[in-house]
Amino acid sequence: MDGNGRWAKKKFLPRLVGHNKGLESVRKIIEYCIKYNVKTLTIYAFSTENWKRPIKEVDGLLKLFSESISKESKKIHSNNIKLKFIGDTSLLTKALQIKIKEIEKETSRNKRLVLNVALNYGGRLDIVNSVNTFYNNKKRIKKITEKDINSGLYTKGQSDVDLLIRTGGQQRMSNFLLWQSAYAELFFSKKLWPDFDEKIFVNALYFFQNTERKFGSVSKST
Ligand code: IPE
Ligand code: MG
Repeated sequence: MDGNGRWAKKKFLPRLVGHNKGLESVRKIIEYCIKYNVKTLTIYAFSTENWKRPIKEVDGLLKLFSESISKESKKIHSNNIKLKFIGDTSLLTKALQIKIKEIEKETSRNKRLVLNVALNYGGRLDIVNSVNTFYNNKKRIKKITEKDINSGLYTKGQSDVDLLIRTGGQQRMSNFLLWQSAYAELFFSKKLWPDFDEKIFVNALYFFQNTERKFGSVSKST
């Protein structure tokens, strides 16, 4: 979800106004996922590197997360959405951690859409955590397998990323779901996140639909 700050700057508004506007795009993409029958959506809300931003922006973002969880939780649950937070939530305030645990528990049986919110998330952190969990549990085993790493990731039990969408014009991963995106199709849009709309979403789906996924093998038509 890139481009909130630039969107605000273009309008001579504070960056936080851009983040607020970006939240509307989050609501929209959830709606499109349900409409087009996407089963899992992961949004990158805050990375392990985002703490480097000015304190005012970090505080504003965390306040926005906290408020929107409270405000949207009923709607999320009634829409049959399972909410899961991925990342190191232990650095968040106790109040926010409790809120997160509550809504995860409340929505844990929901089936229509799995919504992962990456909060204080880093792809490298995810892999390192997984390896550490493995060694803490099974100290005597010397070799670790891909399956072992998979089973310790924040996204354990979920499938790999099929389609990764990044708005805002940059073409990089920024430490997002590195392991899980090994064979993801990458879709980049120049549109800023607050301007995200159904047309971009459908374009991304078309792009995905028209890409043959070979997973390192050869084309079916060869
Ligand atoms: C959204 O956009 C990022 C977050 C969700 C924290 P940015 O804040 O990175 O916007 P730009 O890149 O400055 O435009
Ligand atoms: Mg950015």
